[in-house]
Amino acid sequence: MATARQHIDMDKAKKTAEQVFGLLGGAVISAMIYLGDRLGLYQALQGAEPLTSEELARKTGLHERWIREWLQGQAAAGLLDYTGEGRFALSPEGALVLADENSPLFLGGGFSALPQQMAVVERLPESFKSGLGLPYDAFGPEGARGIERLFAPWFRSQLVPVALPKLEGVAPKLQAGAKVADVGCGAGIALIEMAKAFPQSAFHGYDISKYALARAQDNKAKAGVRNVTFHDAASDALPGDASFDFITTFDCIHDMAHPQVVIRAIRQAIQPQGTWLIADIHGQGSFEENLSNNPLAPLMYGFSVLSCMSSALSEPGGAGLGTLGFPEPVARRMVTEVGFSRFKSHDFENPLNAYYEVRP
Ligand SMILES: C[S@@+](CC[C@H](N)C(=O)[O-])C[C@H]1O[C@@H](n2cnc3c(N)ncnc32)[C@H](O)[C@@H]1O
Repeated sequence: MATARQHIDMDKAKKTAEQVFGLLGGAVISAMIYLGDRLGLYQALQGAEPLTSEELARKTGLHERWIREWLQGQAAAGLLDYTGEGRFALSPEGALVLADENSPLFLGGGFSALPQQMAVVERLPESFKSGLGLPYDAFGPEGARGIERLFAPWFRSQLVPVALPKLEGVAPKLQAGAKVADVGCGAGIALIEMAKAFPQSAFHGYDISKYALARAQDNKAKAGVRNVTFHDAASDALPGDASFDFITTFDCIHDMAHPQVVIRAIRQAIQPQGTWLIADIHGQGSFEENLSNNPLAPLMYGFSVLSCMSSALSEPGGAGLGTLGFPEPVARRMVTEVGFSRFKSHDFENPLNAYYEVRP
């Protein structure tokens, strides 16, 4: 409550109210995107002539009144085009983001675990009191599916053709037959893509999430690849025998309760001439830089509380790095501490991720 002596700038207060209301709008529209993705509405609109609510309802087997409200809301949010006479269209550009699961711009998958991600807010007040976060599996099987769908488009379209050729000597080694590990492999899409492209090589995925590992086994069976093995890292850890030619970690070091232990294990597992490819969230070296120079910072700090920092604090003594907690200066320091001496940054045109090529 303001005291009599405090000056209140009412214009600023109104702008703050508008901003907060806009954020509530973003949360609600996100729920509508979730429904559009889950019910296949964007896919039904993709490539079609502008449709009426009756036509879209017929095409999807859904109830017209609900479809009409959803369509109108999506047009009001600027996600669909209203072409007049009750007709709505998804532009080709919108389809790349919301309908085409193979497009590198596809973001619909990032919404598929929204209900589970939001549901944990009921449990987080306890974490704020105890300090202990929730492991990845707190989101249930949908959590692993959501992460898979968020990152899979980049793995499918960019990893093998764009990223691997830029790493010194890696692609020829994989062609000849190399031993590869993906630590924090999630649902295994990155490994499976590499395994399809390099049948002479042997690929090993390590994770601690039972839901992610179950999806990984399923994805492996669907892809029909034989040169991939998944390991539960809790009972079957990365061997420290300097045998791996190539190791990858995609968006997981900042989630780990004990990242320095895993980084040390990677140092012990890698060949003297091996390469470690790290992908981690684009972040700046300090909070002040993120505040002034990182438009994704509000989203990332939110994700961190809901998921990444929470997971990184889910064990006693957890490091709690969090979503923006492994930017280049931190990565350089932590890998140097365990004896990596070469570090090169890459830009693989992913707005979410920075990439580091690290060698002993
Ligand atoms: C954001 S997900 C990324 C998954 C996958 N790399 C991808 O890009 O889709 C982070 C993963 O790290 C895993 N993880 C966390 N701590 C781990 C540890 N100590 N060892 C192995 N995996 C771990 C989680 O279970 C989760 O699957």
